[in-house]
Amino acid sequence: MKKLKAVVNTLDKKSHINREIYGHFSEHLGRCIYNGIYVGENSDIPNTNGVRNDIIEAFKEIKMPVLRWPGGCFADEYHWKDGIGEKSERPKMVNTHWGGVTEDNSFGTHEFFNMCEELGCEPYLAGNVGSGTVEELADWIEYITFDGVSPMADLRRKNGREKPWKLKYLGIGNENWGCGGNMRPEYYADLYRRYSTYCRNFGGNELYKVAGGPNVDDYNWTTKLMEGINDFHAKAISLHYYTIPSGDFFNKGSATDFTDEVYYQTIKNAMHIGTLIEKHNNIMKQHSDNMKLIVDEWGCWFDVQEGTNPGFLFQQNTMRDAIVAAVSLNIFNEHSDVVAMANLAQAVNVLQALLLTEGEKLVKTPTYHVFNMYKTHQDAELLYSYCENEEAGGKIPAVTKSASIDKDGHVTLTFSNASLEEDFEIECELVGNSFTKAEAQVLTYGDVHAYNDFEDGERIVPAEHKAEITEKGVKFTLPKLSVVSVRLF
Ligand code: AHR
Repeated sequence: MKKLKAVVNTLDKKSHINREIYGHFSEHLGRCIYNGIYVGENSDIPNTNGVRNDIIEAFKEIKMPVLRWPGGCFADEYHWKDGIGEKSERPKMVNTHWGGVTEDNSFGTHEFFNMCEELGCEPYLAGNVGSGTVEELADWIEYITFDGVSPMADLRRKNGREKPWKLKYLGIGNENWGCGGNMRPEYYADLYRRYSTYCRNFGGNELYKVAGGPNVDDYNWTTKLMEGINDFHAKAISLHYYTIPSGDFFNKGSATDFTDEVYYQTIKNAMHIGTLIEKHNNIMKQHSDNMKLIVDEWGCWFDVQEGTNPGFLFQQNTMRDAIVAAVSLNIFNEHSDVVAMANLAQAVNVLQALLLTEGEKLVKTPTYHVFNMYKTHQDAELLYSYCENEEAGGKIPAVTKSASIDKDGHVTLTFSNASLEEDFEIECELVGNSFTKAEAQVLTYGDVHAYNDFEDGERIVPAEHKAEITEKGVKFTLPKLSVVSVRLF
């Protein structure tokens, strides 16, 4: 087995890893909300105010820090006043983006905010700029966060919620260059200023406003947007990047049936997020010292599963997805000086989902397990780390890694090995603090096409792994096609 030397300096703290980097996204799309997260109070499936208990438990287990809602493209045709009050009286609408299905608005503001409170996670709203009004968005903020006497706060009370909720993260529209209005950046920048002006900070609530940033490598959008707004107007801009194996949006490739070459190309495409972050950040830095990037949609996007509604974006989730998740999260950690938040698309039953459901059954995907193995990076400090590397598949570096130290001085190391052929032994020198105990987990499987399904939901699960404290640091194996996390005490 090839040995790779690594170094982690526990005294060299690089940047704070915001817990929001481990964030998620839930859209009114397919079976993400309805028949996914939300089954309604009258369902036979055990639920709390209509939200599945097994989903609440699973989200809590990974310490979900933030959840984006209600879209996505859906956000720019969502009218929040349709989703409050007596459910039977809520108007219905057509979800024109996603399958043309009827949206009955039974999951609305109260349902979302109460669920976030139950989960202990920050809500992240995407406001409607594409087809909504300034007044509508301003009213929503007043409805959610105002404690005094006002038309919107009184309406909230009438609907059963006395105290305001807390709202920090507010996106002003979504994909304003596309489904959110097909705007030009100059026009959007002006609209951003107008809409965000009327989203007020009520009482102790302070909004963290996010401007709609670029798609993938649209550097012109970033430049023009940054010329049009400054850090007085926005704390961050968003970036959307999906990993598409073929790079062709109209013929993406299968989620489960792919060659080794396509596998390596997928991982290469996932790694491209690092370059995108750096290039967009270089542009942002020319205009502002403080503005951050929020990668509020990322993940694998494959062809929809045959036999399912093409508008529902349902896809399976294999070991390939687990490697993409591990690689991406390591990259976000390594760029945590600029990446303030990231949101995997999407939480349940859509794209690179954490969880899949069918009736009362629920499956945790390999991607879910990666989030669980990485959760101790949340709110820790990124450490300097280095690791020797080897090429895999003639295309990519096999190994990615990141290291962090938490407030109690415990260190988390996360490594991924994308090679389908080679196991490595990692000999990691630890400079600075010394440790007496190592606990490790490994997620791996003999077949990159393997996934968890309703017949066997435990096919791919993390297992305990051997990690040995040595004179200089810690030693462990990094099997081919694996993700390893090590905790040092
Ligand atoms: O996540 C699915 C869709 O992808 C979102 O609605 C949109 O913002 C993006 O194009």
